[in-house]
Amino acid sequence: MAIIDGKEIARQIKTEIAAEVTTILDSGKEVPHLAAVLVGDNPASHTYVGGKEKACLEVGIISSVYKLSESVSEKELLEVIDYLNLDDHVDGFIVQLPLPKQIDEKKMISHINPAKDVDGFHPENFGRMALNLPAYIPATPFGILQLIERYKIETSGKNCVVLGRSHIVGSPMSILLSRKTYPGDATVTLCHSRTPNLKEITLNADILIVAMGQPEFITKDMVKKGSVVIDVGIHRIPSESSKSGFKLIGDVKFDEVSRNASYITPVPGGVGPMTIVALLMNTLKAYKKEIYF
Ligand SMILES: NC(=O)c1ccc[n+]([C@@H]2O[C@H](COP(=O)([O-])OP(=O)(O)OC[C@H]3O[C@@H](n4cnc5c(N)ncnc54)[C@H](OP(=O)(O)O)[C@@H]3O)[C@@H](O)[C@H]2O)c1
Repeated sequence: MAIIDGKEIARQIKTEIAAEVTTILDSGKEVPHLAAVLVGDNPASHTYVGGKEKACLEVGIISSVYKLSESVSEKELLEVIDYLNLDDHVDGFIVQLPLPKQIDEKKMISHINPAKDVDGFHPENFGRMALNLPAYIPATPFGILQLIERYKIETSGKNCVVLGRSHIVGSPMSILLSRKTYPGDATVTLCHSRTPNLKEITLNADILIVAMGQPEFITKDMVKKGSVVIDVGIHRIPSESSKSGFKLIGDVKFDEVSRNASYITPVPGGVGPMTIVALLMNTLKAYKKEIYF
């Protein structure tokens, strides 16, 4: 069994991005700029945007955050999106989700200029992705593709089971692995809460991608020997043995499932570190106009 070390791959990719940004800087050009719109006081959103700022700083990408109050109106938020859409100094930006209940998320995301939609959530980017056209791929699935590629994991002809159909993880992941390319060319089954006989399906998976949001749901008896297991779930649970008083676990029972898997991502240190790095990769693509010319 081999552990897929997301922390190490994320470090390598950051080094590659930093080298590219240094070359840009040395040539006297403006460096890439990633902006984030942060609405309200959701602690998880603040942590994620804080992590994004830190990662930008590490690689030399300019980072800015537009903080808006919880009570912001749709009109005010649309004005900020318009401003960022038109600002030539901003290459890409994200509107951090979730948004307060008075705001229609889909309307906001659809208002982002697709060329600056580095989260890859705009319908145009999602459609381009499905058609295997150049597109920004949502950060978590993009990060998982990087892990598969860098560990040279074979996907062609494999049975891939994706658990969870969210717009940000499961659904794009299932599309990406069924595309006629590498990583891809897999036979993909997408499962959700209405899927009966889940265990029968997971036992048939050569590659199992778990994004359910259910702590340690996947146990050893649900996993085929020699399979590749990618755990997207993150849960903070109380722990007396750690200094902070809590620890992170995934959707997979790591200790026992790792005995069946050929490759497995740990939590923490697997998919998590890849998400922000994938956003940086998308920002560089936006800067270089690789997707929209
Ligand atoms: N590592 C990272 O960077 C990262 C990024 C994003 C998310 N996450 C984590 O990944 C997990 C999933 O996130 P998400 O946003 O994709 O979750 P989500 O929007 O809550 O979606 C969960 C999906 O799992 C399905 N599901 C839930 N319980 C199930 C069950 N018992 N059997 C079968 N399917 C079940 C749901 O089915 P229905 O559609 O039928 O409800 C849904 O499609 C969470 O723990 C989240 O914190 C991590």
